[in-house]
This record gives sequence, structure tokens and C-alpha cells, in this order.
Amino acid sequence: MANRTIVAMPGDGIGKAVLDETIRVLNAAGFKADYVEGDIGWEFWKSEGNPLPDRTIQLLEKHKIGLFGAITSKPKDEAFDELAPELKAKGLIYSSPIVGLRQHFGLDICTRPCRTYKGNPLNFIRRGKGEDIEEPMVDVVIYRQNTEGLYSGVEWTNPSQQVYDAFMTHPQFKKNFGHAPKEEVSISTRIFTKKATERILRAAFEHAKKYGYKSVTLCEKPNVIRETSGMMYKMALSIQKNDYPNIELWNTNIDAQMMWLTKNPEDYGVIVAGNMFGDIVSDGFAGLIGGLGFACSAQSNPDTGIAVFEPTHGSAPKYADYAVSIVNPIAMVESAVMMLDFIGEGAMASKIRNAVAAVIAEGKVRTYDMMKMRGTPDVINKGAASTKQMADAIIAKL
Ligand code: NAI
Ligand code: MG
Repeated sequence: MANRTIVAMPGDGIGKAVLDETIRVLNAAGFKADYVEGDIGWEFWKSEGNPLPDRTIQLLEKHKIGLFGAITSKPKDEAFDELAPELKAKGLIYSSPIVGLRQHFGLDICTRPCRTYKGNPLNFIRRGKGEDIEEPMVDVVIYRQNTEGLYSGVEWTNPSQQVYDAFMTHPQFKKNFGHAPKEEVSISTRIFTKKATERILRAAFEHAKKYGYKSVTLCEKPNVIRETSGMMYKMALSIQKNDYPNIELWNTNIDAQMMWLTKNPEDYGVIVAGNMFGDIVSDGFAGLIGGLGFACSAQSNPDTGIAVFEPTHGSAPKYADYAVSIVNPIAMVESAVMMLDFIGEGAMASKIRNAVAAVIAEGKVRTYDMMKMRGTPDVINKGAASTKQMADAIIAKL
């Protein structure tokens, strides 16, 4: 059978180091693939005025599966300053290429697993009975709606008269904000559609069914945000009742969920939320299992089969130019493991996951974050593993 083609998009900063090492791990596990490089990120903003060139979109359109490292984003003024001189007069505006990918391909299903590895020194611990220390095993998968809600960009400062007048027809707007001069009003909207809400809810329930989780928790705030969260809750109730009667539906408010995060994280299975609350709750759970060096994610569109797999972390520019890369590649490796699961290579995915688990459990090879060091270049002399040494250790276990 012909090799599968994967679009490898290293991006900026540490993106390249973690992606290169991850591809070595995939090769060592026996994954047969050709990698084509997709240009994305700050370099292409500076040289072409577009951080997401059309040729990259076309590559993903064709090959469907992408591995993405990380990109650098900078504030508006800096973005303009760094633009090539001949592009400066063109009125170009920088926008995040990863958000651009999500929007272009409708990658509305974002999946972020957070699982405790035994022996990870960064695992959350809590006080048990008496003097006992407990280390709860977290096994949570967050389903985050990835394209709507507060991050969709429908917002204004000093809105047009037409927009302002429309808002003034809402009694709550008139009562709470009618006294403020229009010029002093900023509005960011939270819009949910039934279709996208249903898709993320069903994706969450399907995952729970497939992998045997006993519950799906809707993490929103329907008692206060009555329309969007309220609609999502009603739909969740009906989907659970009609199609997943054997899976429990739990309902938590995002604020309370963050309070319970450290109290009983082991009780949760699949969690589903809108865009912003999904972002918040997934970072919260990631903190319990080791933080940015371990947080992986997938974003996909089930209709087209187009999917992009990426670590949650950014380009960590501080560390990008070290002669020897010190960052933890596990978040990127785990993202590639999610890719293997997605394309039906479950056995290979398990093999890599077990190898990562074995390295962590053994505890001999640890990157600087796992040793709770500050990330200076001399961490290697102090016994921390480099990015490459961590990948080597995983490969050895394979
Ligand atoms: P960051 O995630 O790049 O780094 C924050 C800190 O986390 C680093 O200084 C480092 O201490 C630690 N860290 C990150 N990845 C690590 C790894 N693999 N192993 C060990 N430690 C790790 O976030 P920051 O500094 O806020 O942003 C830097 C740049 O990345 C910005 O330009 C930002 O816009 C961009 N960014 C891009 C994202 C993406 O590509 N999806 C996501 C977040 C930020
Ligand atoms: Mg986040």
C-alpha cells in the first residue's frame, strides 16, 4: 500500500525541534508516511505578508492530515515593523494562522486529553486523610467547540449607530448600558448555533461510548448564560436521553468546575464545553498532569476528514535559539499519537503511548520542566535531558 502523506507544519521557534523529534519517533514505531512541509508562521508573515500561504491550505486540502508545531504571534505594531519593506504600504493586517486554519477548514471539533502518567514528578498531589498524600489519576478528555462563541471575532468598540441601536432594543442592554456613551462601549458577542453545538455534543458522547467512559460532563453556565449555555444544556439532555441512555450526563458550571479541579479531578471522564470555557477547563486539567510539556490536542472536521494535531504550547521563543534544544517533546509526540488514533492506527498509537509511559515511569530521562528547573541552556549539564535525548529514550522503549 502507498505511504500516507502527512503535512508537517513546524511553524516557529521550538515548533521545529519538537516536530522533528516526533517524526523520528513515528518512524521508529514503524509508521509508514511521507512528510511534505507546509509553510506557516511568522517567517511567512515577514517575507510574504501572509502567515498562512495558500500553498499550505492546498497541501492540507489534498492530504487532509496535518501535524503542527507552534507559531509566534506578536502585537500589531511589531507585526508591522517586521514586515518586509516592500510590503509595508499594502495595508496588510496580521491574523493568527492557526485560527485561520480552524476557520478555513471548519475544524470545529477540538479534543484535548489530559491523562496522568505514573511517575511524572509534575503530577498534581493533594492532602488526603490525616497526613496522607494522594495522587489522583486523571483521565479526562475535553471536547471544546472550536469555531464559535466568544472567540469568533464578532465584536466592536464604539459600534456603528445601527449596531448600537439594535442592542438598545434589548431591555437588558438598555437598562445596564444605556447610560454609557456609545464611544465608551465595547461589545464581544457569544454566538452558538444549533448545528455546531450538536456536533460537539455528539462527538463527546461518541467518544465516551467508544472508550467506555461512564459520564459526559457539560461544563458551561446555563443558570446565568441562559441562551447559549442554556441551549447547549437542553440539547445535551435530549441527546443523552434519546441516544446515549447508558452514559450519565453531568452538568457543572465553569467556575465551580475550576474549584473542584483540585478536589476530585479523578471523577470526571469526558467534558464538553463551548469555545472559551473549553479552553479554560482544558488548561486547568493540563496543569494537573504536567502542564505545557504534556498538553496535546486535535482539531478536526468530521465531514471532510481534515484534521490538524498540535501541542497546546506556543513557540517559546526564549528557547528557540539554544544550541541544544531543551524543551519537552512529549506534548507533540502525544499529539501525533492522537493522529494515529484518528487515522485508524490504534495499535501503533498504543505502542508509542506505552513507550512514553515507560520512560516517565522509569524516571531516568527527564526534560528540564520535569526536573522543576528554570529553562536555561545549562540544564543539560545539570542532568536534564535534551529534546532529542527524550525522543531517543522513547524510541529505545519502542
Ligand atoms: P509558550 O507556550 O510558547 O511558552 C510559555 C512557557 O512554557 C515557556 O517559556 C516554557 O517555559 C514553557 N514551555 C512551552 N512549551 C514547552 C515545552 N514543550 N517543554 C517545556 N516547557 C515548555 O507561550 P508564550 O510564551 O505565552 O508564547 C510564546 C509565543 O507562542 C507567542 O508568540 C504566542 O503568541 C505563541 N503561541 C502560539 C500558540 C500556538 O502555536 N498554538 C499557542 C500559545 C502561544
Ligand atoms: Mg488556551
